[in-house]
Amino acid sequence: MAARDASAWETPPPIPPEGLVSGTVYTDPAIFADEMERIFTPGWRLACHESELPEPYDYRTFDHAGQPLFCIRDGDGQIRTFINACSHRGARLLSDPAGNARRITCFYHHWSYDAKGSCIAVPRAEGYAASGLDRSTLGLREIRTEIRLGLVFITMDSTAEALDKSLAGALAPFEPIMGGGSLEAIHFSRSLLNCNWKAWQETNLDLYHENMHVVLRKTQRDAMPMADRHIRIYGNGHAGSGKMVAAYGGYQGFAGRGSDVPPLPGTDAADFRFSVLFPSSAILSRGTVMRIDTVIPVSPSQTILEMRGLGLKGDTDADRRVRYRHFNQYWGPMGRNVPEDMFAAEACEASFRHQAARYQIIARDEGLTGQDDAPLRSFYAEWARLMHRDAHAPHPVPA
Ligand code: FES
Repeated sequence: MAARDASAWETPPPIPPEGLVSGTVYTDPAIFADEMERIFTPGWRLACHESELPEPYDYRTFDHAGQPLFCIRDGDGQIRTFINACSHRGARLLSDPAGNARRITCFYHHWSYDAKGSCIAVPRAEGYAASGLDRSTLGLREIRTEIRLGLVFITMDSTAEALDKSLAGALAPFEPIMGGGSLEAIHFSRSLLNCNWKAWQETNLDLYHENMHVVLRKTQRDAMPMADRHIRIYGNGHAGSGKMVAAYGGYQGFAGRGSDVPPLPGTDAADFRFSVLFPSSAILSRGTVMRIDTVIPVSPSQTILEMRGLGLKGDTDADRRVRYRHFNQYWGPMGRNVPEDMFAAEACEASFRHQAARYQIIARDEGLTGQDDAPLRSFYAEWARLMHRDAHAPHPVPA
């Protein structure tokens, strides 16, 4: 085989187009703007875990599709979501990542809101008498919010399809683990990645890259026959795995993992499974701990990764310390795997940004077993459906 000249390098490999992704989908600002409008604004997004808001008036702030939002538990216990912008002149209301606010008072002119989004106070309201301004019409913009298995989902689109239809069964592997409400958040971190949001999701969809992680080579890749792994394609771009197993004894320091702390409900210490929710989240369970990723696109080449860890409520202090160790062994964000995934996503991005590479190849077909690329193809098929363009098209195509 020979190296390729410039012309051959420009030519897509002769394989079915669904096995290719053009580099332009990671770098083109027009495509990025389209993604915000066509994918992120109308779709459902995982916002947080309900245990992050344990008390009345607890809140969390975050951005979605360019909009500042916050989730808050009201006095009746319901979790609601609002655009984090004052009705007066639009100032951001809540700036801390998390907190507790029975009364939300804007720093600028001190208009105030309650946890149901009502505007409850306007200083010196008599100044608006001539204009007829009525604060009962000036509540916050509420965002549709629903909870499944303790996971809080939101959508900016009040006409979006029902959440369960959108999820298409992709949470089913986690119902035995999360369905009893016995998990709580034990970790939260945010990282700024120098890559497109899809490049991070690819690391969660791509089983073939087990070869990169020394810890997966030693504990997972060869722990069960490839043919016995079952990959699940749910529809709507969601994909994941059935039960896989880990053999912790293969890695120094991991032996005994799981015999030192109770496993999560409905699972065992060696159990590994994952679901990637299109477009922006991934749920991974590893016996004694869970990890939930959510990507927040910032620009074509920058992405915020929010990473949550879940453990068992009611842990003793000693058990919780063990669970932290289990979370950090694989994940982190300074565990064995996550920094390596960040390195890989940014390495691909660096090539596409300067067109040093033109295509990704996602053509592995192992009949929905082993290290099949079907989850990646499913993700890009949904991307193409919503974007009205093929992911393999080398140049931007008008909608
Ligand atoms: Fe919020 Fe004026 S902008 S009170």
